[in-house]
Amino acid sequence: MFKKITNLLTAISFFAVTTLFGFSASAQQAPIVIKLSHVVAENTPKGLASLKFKELAEKKLPGKVQVQVFPNSQLFGDAKELEALLLNDVQIINPSLSKFDRYTKKIQVFDLPFLFKDSKAANDFQNSADGKALLKSMEDKGLIGLEYWANGMRHFSTNKDFRVPADVKGLKFRIQASDVYESLLKAFGANGQKMAFAEVYQALQTGVVDGQENTFSNMYSQKFHEVQKTIVETNHGILDYMVVVNAKWWNGLPADIRKGLWNGLPADIRKGLSEAMREATIYNNQISREKNEEARKAIIDSGKAKVVKLTDAQLAEWKKAVAPVYAQFEKDIGVDLIKSAQKYSQPAQPKAEKPATKK
Ligand code: SIN
Repeated sequence: MFKKITNLLTAISFFAVTTLFGFSASAQQAPIVIKLSHVVAENTPKGLASLKFKELAEKKLPGKVQVQVFPNSQLFGDAKELEALLLNDVQIINPSLSKFDRYTKKIQVFDLPFLFKDSKAANDFQNSADGKALLKSMEDKGLIGLEYWANGMRHFSTNKDFRVPADVKGLKFRIQASDVYESLLKAFGANGQKMAFAEVYQALQTGVVDGQENTFSNMYSQKFHEVQKTIVETNHGILDYMVVVNAKWWNGLPADIRKGLWNGLPADIRKGLSEAMREATIYNNQISREKNEEARKAIIDSGKAKVVKLTDAQLAEWKKAVAPVYAQFEKDIGVDLIKSAQKYSQPAQPKAEKPATKK
């Protein structure tokens, strides 16, 4: 008798809960599958942070999302990934900032040579109101930027010994799909050939191109140092990423506690994903410096490519050569935006001395 009453009560409470939240046990929703695709190796800042995002998102939204990470251009190479995102064939990608110039000219600010003195200056600009506005600047094209992820400073490498721009005259360099970089190579008297990241190693090995420019972490993980003679620490720009989502997909995720029911229970998927992405960003930005230092050391220890530091005079030659690039792009990017970014690389102003107080 007691058992019968208990069963009845269980049935009544189950009915009450399912009625209240409007679902039945037979209508369990499968987790939302989220594909995240990128072009680099797993043991890089971006590769590791993508895995961190998966771990955090699945922990915060158990049973509600399943994140599948595809590294190394396995799903889409960088020639296709933005189109694939717009077609919703992949839901999250994190391309280099150099690869967005088809969607907004303003984002080219990040490619201007020697604009940022280091990664921190770039990060400070990204966190400013102008930097944050760029995350939203492609919404009319169907793309929403969630976060910036840092990789690090870029350096040139070639299959010959070089120090100054005059040494690279006439050489062919692989560049990312960036008009600013095309103009930069021209300013050095060299040629820039736009090419997908996955093709670079072979192009260097077979001599299709003579050189490339990248971070130590990308060079080491792709073994570029094995097919290049010299890497010069030019620090000529940053290689950072924007994590972007398809706007329609993102805005369609259950995000309102009243409307966003998940298996009948209130769910805020977008909030959970945003929090996981914020934490993955912090993790990425913590490890990026260390990963690049590790890779630089590993390249030196390998005894393959020589890593060269520039003298002040040599660096000044590189900096002097880039003036035409600014002249060409400042109208598209906007002088105010360039100044706003430059602010974070200015030397600190000496503090004005206080006038002596009269006795
Ligand atoms: C990346 O770091 O995502 C690739 C950069 C490149 O194309 O050189």
